[in-house]
Amino acid sequence: MKEKKLQALKKLVKYAVPIESLPTMTTEQFKQAIDDGKQLTIIDDLVHNIDEIIPNHPGGDIILKAVGKDATDHFYGRTKIYKHSNAASNFLSNTRIARYVKTSSADDKKQD
Ligand code: HEM
Repeated sequence: MKEKKLQALKKLVKYAVPIESLPTMTTEQFKQAIDDGKQLTIIDDLVHNIDEIIPNHPGGDIILKAVGKDATDHFYGRTKIYKHSNAASNFLSNTRIARYVKTSSADDKKQD
């Protein structure tokens, strides 16, 4: 009985895609997606689609700094703006869409 309930509950939970199952995205593909208007960022070498986070971000529009860039340092507070909670990190597991493969030395690490 308990097992059945657990199975039913599991169907309601949205599990994150395992990292090893994600496709890869090169620097060129990332840039192309940004040019196409996608709202993507890179955190910890994973590409995240943050289009649904942007309008709901507790920190406001400053999150727009992340679009088209590597936002790892911003996210972990290394740029002295804000160090996110574990809850925010957990949230990120649901927005990842690809493993980032750096294929050109573009300035995606540059953070302003
Ligand atoms: C890209 C993925 C991001 C996610 C999922 C995210 C999520 C969140 C969440 C959940 C909070 C609430 C507090 C917490 O749980 O830590 C928060 C607060 C905040 N975030 Fe982000 N954030 C992101 C990116 C950024 C970036 C790139 C910046 C800065 C450049 C930023 C700046 C802030 C600030 C300043 C707050 C504090 C708001 C306050 O309490 O006054 N966030 N963010």
